[in-house]
Amino acid sequence: MKVIKVLNNKEVGKMTAELILENIHSNPSIVLGLATGSTPESTYEYLIGDFKKNKTDWSKVRTFNLDEYVGLEPTHKKSYRYFMDEKLFKSVNINIKNTHVPNGINNTDPEAYDKLIAENGGIDLQLLGIGTNGHIGFNEPGTSFESLTSVVDLAQETIDVNSRFFASIDEVPKQAISMGLQSIMNAKKVVLIAIGKNKAEAIKQLVNGNISINWPCTVLQKHKDVTIIVDEEAASLI
Ligand code: PGA
Repeated sequence: MKVIKVLNNKEVGKMTAELILENIHSNPSIVLGLATGSTPESTYEYLIGDFKKNKTDWSKVRTFNLDEYVGLEPTHKKSYRYFMDEKLFKSVNINIKNTHVPNGINNTDPEAYDKLIAENGGIDLQLLGIGTNGHIGFNEPGTSFESLTSVVDLAQETIDVNSRFFASIDEVPKQAISMGLQSIMNAKKVVLIAIGKNKAEAIKQLVNGNISINWPCTVLQKHKDVTIIVDEEAASLI
């Protein structure tokens, strides 16, 4: 596991975007695993800045997002499909047909998502955030390391933390469809990013903790190509 400590949010975004761009340049039809939430926003801003300036070609890039809220239509402003369209896809020359986000409405066969990823050759580079409770994707503490894409219950801590995105806590969906921990472990390369003091304990567990389902992120200790890019606050306990 390679740990890169940088100063702040902006630097995390720059470093992460540069790493993604390097990978797109060396493999223009790369399969990227993408994440939503506050943390990747600076990365996506940098990628859009690069597209404006350098015209990096996204036309053959394929993407698979980690998760989606159950019950939200893709057009819902709080859905992760909407987030991705707004924060990245509409501002680069990606073919929208090459972008995939799990469906929060029609999800009777969640593992079809893993099959589709496999048919595309598997994820080359998976971008991850991390929850304060160590979740990756929406794989909350207690999730089996063998899990594939499935409908999952959100932990109360996650509902509380994510309520900042909604008008009230009652509007936060209680379930999501999420790639599983095995789905994530199948990626060839993993890049996990974290910003802020509230992530410091999870980063400590990820880097130095015992491998345990109580901290889902610790499964990554078993992956052979993981890079962690953290700001000073998130790195304050390692
Ligand atoms: P955040 O979420 O980037 O909004 O902090 C990360 C996560 O919960 O995985």
